[in-house]
Amino acid sequence: PTALAGRHLLKELDFTAEEFRGLVELAAELKAAKRGGIEPRYLQGRNIALIFEKTSTRTRCAFEVAAVNQGASTTYLDPSGSQIGHKESVKDTARVLGRMYDAIEYRGDSQQKVEELAAHAGVPVYNGLTDDWHPTQMLADVLTMTEHCAKPLTEVAFAYLGDARFNMGNSYLVTGALLGMDVRIVAPKAYWPAEEIVDRARALAASSGARITLTETVEEGVRGADFVATDVWVSMGEPKEVWAERITALAPYAVTMDVLRATGNPDVKFLHCLPAFHDLGTKVGQEIHAAYGMDYLEVSDEVFESAHSVVFDEAENRMHTIKAVMVATLA
Ligand code: CP
Ligand code: NVA
Repeated sequence: PTALAGRHLLKELDFTAEEFRGLVELAAELKAAKRGGIEPRYLQGRNIALIFEKTSTRTRCAFEVAAVNQGASTTYLDPSGSQIGHKESVKDTARVLGRMYDAIEYRGDSQQKVEELAAHAGVPVYNGLTDDWHPTQMLADVLTMTEHCAKPLTEVAFAYLGDARFNMGNSYLVTGALLGMDVRIVAPKAYWPAEEIVDRARALAASSGARITLTETVEEGVRGADFVATDVWVSMGEPKEVWAERITALAPYAVTMDVLRATGNPDVKFLHCLPAFHDLGTKVGQEIHAAYGMDYLEVSDEVFESAHSVVFDEAENRMHTIKAVMVATLA
């Protein structure tokens, strides 16, 4: 991981499988050290800027806790709390923050913005989610998979159901391809990742030995899966109006107990980056329930609350893996 000193984390495609696995291994070590009360502090006196142009619970908290555990400080810039995009360009912001901070996290809509920050900051820049990629989430998911499945990743089968054209679908496809996994995208064709991304994944698979399946058929897609994952059907930044079409198109791809049974694997585990519409008790959930009469969306409450679900391990692992990213690039 020391080979990653000074590197950015902008998208999974920028990393080799060895580098990616190195970060996951470092995260596992840091997790064990914290649990054992013997965490070394590699980031004493460092300062990290956290830019959030979209809201967050996990990613923000993960960066803040990880930094403090390691002796670093953070500054949180909320969706309205900086000049970015209003009266200061990304390029100027990068050069200002780069003079004060040792690293910058950015969450927002466009991948191009985080790439531009990285081009001008002079310090490592971490993508905390864009519309295209969610690389810190992938590190957490892979750590969680290694914890819950004894097989090597190259023997693990992973199925993602739902809208696969956005950050989570894209990231799962290329991460699975990079690490040599059996990765299945299960969705109506119109919801598959862009052709260009599928091509990149196929190219990676050619050298990693990954198997890539894109299918509209749930039964085929989940058969033999060790992990089944999904994500919200409407992502941050998308208009409310798309709910109707998404519910119609994606309802057959909701993760229910029937879907888990169709894997044929009694030990199958369920992943979700969260937040999840497993019950509709939240404010947005109630609006959806009132408008469309749904009781859950992408995952049933039964699955979410079952022993198959490892979503809170996954959420915790955001912190350990984000810590590993900062340690590897800054220590
Ligand atoms: N999974 C995830 O990125 O969660 P937040 O939006 O809460 O950061
Ligand atoms: N696809 C979701 C992921 C949230 C972590 C979104 O972009 O809102």
